[in-house]
Amino acid sequence: MTEWLKTGWRNKPRVQMPDYTDAAALNAVEAQLSKYPPLVFAGEARKLRQELGKAARGEAFLLQGGDCAESFDQFSADSIRDTFRVMLQMAMVLTYGAKVPVIKVGRMAGQFAKPRSAPTETVNGLELPSYRGDIINELAFTPEARIPDPGKMLQAYTQAAATLNLIRAFSQGGFADMNRVHAWTLGFTDGAEAERYREMAGRIQDSIDFMAAAGIDRGASHEFSSVDFYTSHESLLLEYEEALTRQDSTSGKWLAGSGHLIWIGDRTRQPDGAHVEFCRGVMNPIGLKCGPSMTSDDLKKLMATLNPDNDAGRLTLIARFGAGTVGDHLPRLIKTVEEEGANVVWVCDAMHGNTIKSSSGYKTRPFDSVLREVREFFAVHAAEGTIPGGVHFEMTGQDVTECTGGVHAITDENLSDRYHTACDPRLNASQSLELAFLVAEELTGLRQTGQNRAVG
Ligand code: PEP
Ligand code: CO
Repeated sequence: MTEWLKTGWRNKPRVQMPDYTDAAALNAVEAQLSKYPPLVFAGEARKLRQELGKAARGEAFLLQGGDCAESFDQFSADSIRDTFRVMLQMAMVLTYGAKVPVIKVGRMAGQFAKPRSAPTETVNGLELPSYRGDIINELAFTPEARIPDPGKMLQAYTQAAATLNLIRAFSQGGFADMNRVHAWTLGFTDGAEAERYREMAGRIQDSIDFMAAAGIDRGASHEFSSVDFYTSHESLLLEYEEALTRQDSTSGKWLAGSGHLIWIGDRTRQPDGAHVEFCRGVMNPIGLKCGPSMTSDDLKKLMATLNPDNDAGRLTLIARFGAGTVGDHLPRLIKTVEEEGANVVWVCDAMHGNTIKSSSGYKTRPFDSVLREVREFFAVHAAEGTIPGGVHFEMTGQDVTECTGGVHAITDENLSDRYHTACDPRLNASQSLELAFLVAEELTGLRQTGQNRAVG
């Protein structure tokens, strides 16, 4: 493997990146960003790698979630707080099912750049470049709005810094109140499903009460008064990534200072392409999206390039095939990983293979398809004897109507009520929590099967 430079990606074929027309403006932004402080630090990235190493061995479980695309318009303290809170609630429910620590990673503080299925978009006969996320251009359908503007990288950096500042404050400030488990299910009013959640919430509450009665001081214990919460985003806009890359003074290794975990999208994972070249040289944990077109050969090359030392927390494979087709793809990729003896974390992104156009014209995802993909993912791992290491969702703490279904049974007709996403449809707070309860049941089932196996 040749020596790595943070600029090396510039000599490789690139896809899904903007062509900036004003080179001087681009250079000025890059120069400025290069002087700014990194958003995350090497020790944090190392710690997350260790945690993910545990997930690879089944000793922890990853919950990764947040917006499809963060937006400048919808940036607010309340929306950060609400997503953070719902993720903590989900993590608690998952911990209950998995009986192992849940690693919390937000698609936050940097998730701005989007790959698109087509380079242009046509509305009423007018063809314009596609929207590529607020860090690149604007959603408004005008020729000016769609011109890529390098100055937006500075605004994205500022927003990411402010977001992370708030997340760090929440994480350390005793925000994670575990005493209100029952309140989480208040919105779940009807039916047998709601009863199941209440029952599990009741059991979680019992455990907490028991610990309190046994004199375990919640205030003093680190686990109860603070949480580790990490950030992640797709490493797509490489000018931004390169400008925030720093050399760690203690180890001499390179760190992408833009976020703790960065991932490579399903559209930019060419083994000899620019995105893989950039990611191979930084010490952060790396995610790799695996869609239906991922071949065994590509996966072998990618694992060798991205994780030559076969470190257990370095590489997370994020499977996103779509409900009904997990069985067509996951077994062959698991086989490749096993044949190579590769250490990876297997994660299920149950969103990106399940996007459909609703009858009312909105892009949506049926809750049932999301759940079905998670279940298929668990079933395949159970059949192969391998470890399901986590889940990945597009979700928000806000009460949006973007995905159909769930206990409140959002219909195609409801989608227009509160459809706010800048890109893909997200689960709302109630759907996210409901899903966490259902995934927790899968995890409980998995543990029980494992115990029976161990006994039998
Ligand atoms: C995403 O995670 O928002 C995304 C675009 O995913 P994928 O690369 O899997 O399509
Ligand atoms: Co998305």
